[in-house]
Amino acid sequence: MKKLPSLKNKVVWITGASQGIGRQLALTMARQGGTVVAAARSSGKLDQLQSEALTLEGTIYPLPVDVTRHDEVMRAADVIMTRFGRVDIAILNAGTFIKTAGVEFRSTHMRQHFELNVMGVCHCLDALIPIMVAQQSGTLAINASLAGYRGLSAAAGYGASKAALINMAESLHIDLKPKGVEIKLINPGFVKTPLTDKNTFKMPFLMDVEPAVEAILRGLSRKHFEIRFPTVFGMMMGMLRILPYNAYFAVTRHLASHE
Ligand SMILES: NC(=O)c1ccc[n+]([C@@H]2O[C@H](COP(=O)([O-])OP(=O)(O)OC[C@H]3O[C@@H](n4cnc5c(N)ncnc54)[C@H](OP(=O)(O)O)[C@@H]3O)[C@@H](O)[C@H]2O)c1
Repeated sequence: MKKLPSLKNKVVWITGASQGIGRQLALTMARQGGTVVAAARSSGKLDQLQSEALTLEGTIYPLPVDVTRHDEVMRAADVIMTRFGRVDIAILNAGTFIKTAGVEFRSTHMRQHFELNVMGVCHCLDALIPIMVAQQSGTLAINASLAGYRGLSAAAGYGASKAALINMAESLHIDLKPKGVEIKLINPGFVKTPLTDKNTFKMPFLMDVEPAVEAILRGLSRKHFEIRFPTVFGMMMGMLRILPYNAYFAVTRHLASHE
């Protein structure tokens, strides 16, 4: 397996770093030599993460923050800039999933998804875009999902929030590239984490968190805008994305009836 590139002297900010994909990203990026600012609400879990990284080449700096709070995010950015003076890579990863069948539709579920999955990212962008534009460099990676490609059963809130991120990332990519800021879109399939451990339905192509994080980090070092994995599931979802509605609904109804 090819070695991941060194992150020595790079400052990385990861949201949602107390567990799951974000936690594994923080450990791997610290192993690559990065200075990793690990953000989430659970300060105890972040402290534990910091101690696990003590023997690694890089460091993990725990920074408790609730990304749904604009003031907390702006303060966190100030702390990072005062301490490290720059942000080279930010992985905006904090997010959640609440399974909701159509008959149980609740606007509160939509709000919860949008406040965390969308506004949580937007608050970080408020802080980070001016920093990276001033630096004339930086990578902003937004963790969306393959579920954002099209409407899926029992995922109106989650899917809509991730679709919003995909569209927003495309738009920002166009505008910020000439300013030296690289927007990357991460679209994972199912990854085994505390979030998906709660799911009772069958998750096709479920992958472990280590290879998922490796796919993200390889993708970050490449030129492509989208980092999509696992490969086969990503291609299948990509094909569903371009199907006309009649065919799309026939396939997805069939899949939903086999759950
Ligand atoms: N796992 C998958 O199959 C999968 C697939 C596609 C996309 N994704 C996306 O990948 C991201 C991470 O998923 P995961 O599976 O690793 O989830 P997870 O295990 O539930 O981890 C979510 C992380 O987000 C943090 N978080 C939640 N609310 C927050 C808030 N208000 N402010 C700051 N941090 C907050 C949590 O920490 P605290 O509770 O300590 O704040 C935790 O560290 C999500 O955006 C998810 O939608 C996951």
